[in-house]
Amino acid sequence: MKKKRGLTLTMNPPESDVIKVDLHPISEDDDIGFFACMTIDRPDKLNALNAEVMASLKAVCAWMESSDDVRVLVVTGAAPKAPLEGKRAKPHAFVAGADITEFAGAGSGVIREKFRDNAVEALWNLSKPTIAMVDGFALGGGCEVACSCDVRIASNRSTFGTPEINLGLIPGYGATQRLERLVGYGKAHEMIMTGDMVPADEAQRIGLVNHVVSPEELEDTVFAMARRIGSKSSHTLRVGKQTVRAALDEGLTDGVELEAVAFANLFDSEDKEIGVQAFLNRETARWKHR
Ligand code: COA
Repeated sequence: MKKKRGLTLTMNPPESDVIKVDLHPISEDDDIGFFACMTIDRPDKLNALNAEVMASLKAVCAWMESSDDVRVLVVTGAAPKAPLEGKRAKPHAFVAGADITEFAGAGSGVIREKFRDNAVEALWNLSKPTIAMVDGFALGGGCEVACSCDVRIASNRSTFGTPEINLGLIPGYGATQRLERLVGYGKAHEMIMTGDMVPADEAQRIGLVNHVVSPEELEDTVFAMARRIGSKSSHTLRVGKQTVRAALDEGLTDGVELEAVAFANLFDSEDKEIGVQAFLNRETARWKHR
């Protein structure tokens, strides 16, 4: 059981050789919980998603869901190691896709099993806020991991793309659907049909990323947002996330109706009264997260 500041986590983050999880307090002054930064750690393979990464990512999602004091998840990729003498430095990568070595010789049965109920869906289905912190290549499954997060913030040296077409494939971790929702039908077709890479500034212009900053500013920018979001009521955030998600599946009329129900239900939550009273008394809200 890990004790950090005044709070005790019910479960330590799962450990693995390919994913690291660091916990950061949301506030330096107050025990109001943590945000987790999960780093996919295979820099020599540009953090490609092999079976071990996918299993670990799923375990982290399950841990996040059951850890009440961990309020936001940041997802990132490890920076390249210093090159061995005489060797070329590897490029920066968020994730350069599914591990292509696992595709060689694989048939549909194997792939159906591997991609069924996969970790990218677990990330997408997480009830807590998620932020992709992208520094470098976000290709194929990497672009899809980013699209499965709620917010994407990228360094200006990042590149996005769905190059599966060059392998005789289409995206398999949801880009035909989630990338399309972010960038629209025409641009998604272009990306999936050409496999062309989209630089960060263009990714921002087409709605694929929320913010683009310098590599030096990236972590501070992302962590500041994780702290800002983490300081809100987890209960309200969960309801807000579910309701915005409904916009993807429901028609406008049904979606607005769903929002009306969710909005009204929040009036029975403790945090609504805490938030309203804090505003009226010019105090900081101390959420109960329910
Ligand atoms: N799966 C497995 N290994 C990968 C990988 C992937 N998706 N992407 C990169 N790697 C490995 C390379 O094989 C190489 O390993 P090695 O040094 O042991 O030979 C290492 O990562 C570095 O990649 P490299 O290709 O040498 O870097 P680069 O700077 O020349 O090119 C990319 C960078 C991203 C353009 C190139 O690696 C690439 O196209 N990767 C595949 C992207 C892709 O198609 N993704 C979708 C998969 S479905």
